[in-house]
Amino acid sequence: MAGEVVLRLRGSDDHEIEELIVNGTFAMDSVDTASERRLADVAFQADRSVRDVLVGGLGLGYTAAAVLQRDVRRVDVVEIQLPLVAWARAGLTPTLAAVAADPRVRLHVADIADVLLRRAGDPAGPWDAILLDVDNGPDFLIHDQNAGLYTPTLLAAAYRRLRPGGTLSIWCQGLAPELYQLCRSISSTAAEHRVHTRRGDREWEYAIYSLTSPGS
Ligand SMILES: C[S@@+](CC[C@H](N)C(=O)[O-])C[C@H]1O[C@@H](n2cnc3c(N)ncnc32)[C@H](O)[C@@H]1O
Repeated sequence: MAGEVVLRLRGSDDHEIEELIVNGTFAMDSVDTASERRLADVAFQADRSVRDVLVGGLGLGYTAAAVLQRDVRRVDVVEIQLPLVAWARAGLTPTLAAVAADPRVRLHVADIADVLLRRAGDPAGPWDAILLDVDNGPDFLIHDQNAGLYTPTLLAAAYRRLRPGGTLSIWCQGLAPELYQLCRSISSTAAEHRVHTRRGDREWEYAIYSLTSPGS
């Protein structure tokens, strides 16, 4: 199901813009990565230590890089596209290079659904934080098969892979009221975090949904 992936570099050497196209659809670029980095920040908001982290979707590496700014022990990054992992190991962009070279990182080529449903042997967790940014959200999918990620089965499975007090957070390209409702049906800790963005005269909001499991 992985389809085609393209990494395009444009601009000049001192201001290069990275662009990721998956399955012929624009996935993201490096112009403004605030929401990708905020996905990581949400996991560190609670007053508890976060040691082991699962990042679903390597992309251009900005979420993983934000996690690595913290005092974490191990970061499992699960990416379905083998070329992206190879490009990270080859150091095609500075961010991907830094993620791949960090000794705390394990890069896995797998479908995050298989990991969360424990159909993949490794990585097995549990984790203190699970950060999911593998698609645009339930309303605008790049991969139709990722629809399953935004279902009660998958979200409950992800929630169960958390250590006590751990946080699950999910990136969306816009507000997703049905997903928020689903998160609330799993835990009363469900929260919506909005990230306001402006490009030229266009303005919009990304959304991150989070759930925290009961502490021990
Ligand atoms: C928007 S990018 C992630 C961006 C990332 N947060 C960053 O900061 O650069 C989404 C990534 O998820 C990957 N992906 C898509 N479906 C997946 C799946 N089911 N399991 C694992 N990775 C997947 C895509 O190949 C892509 O690299």
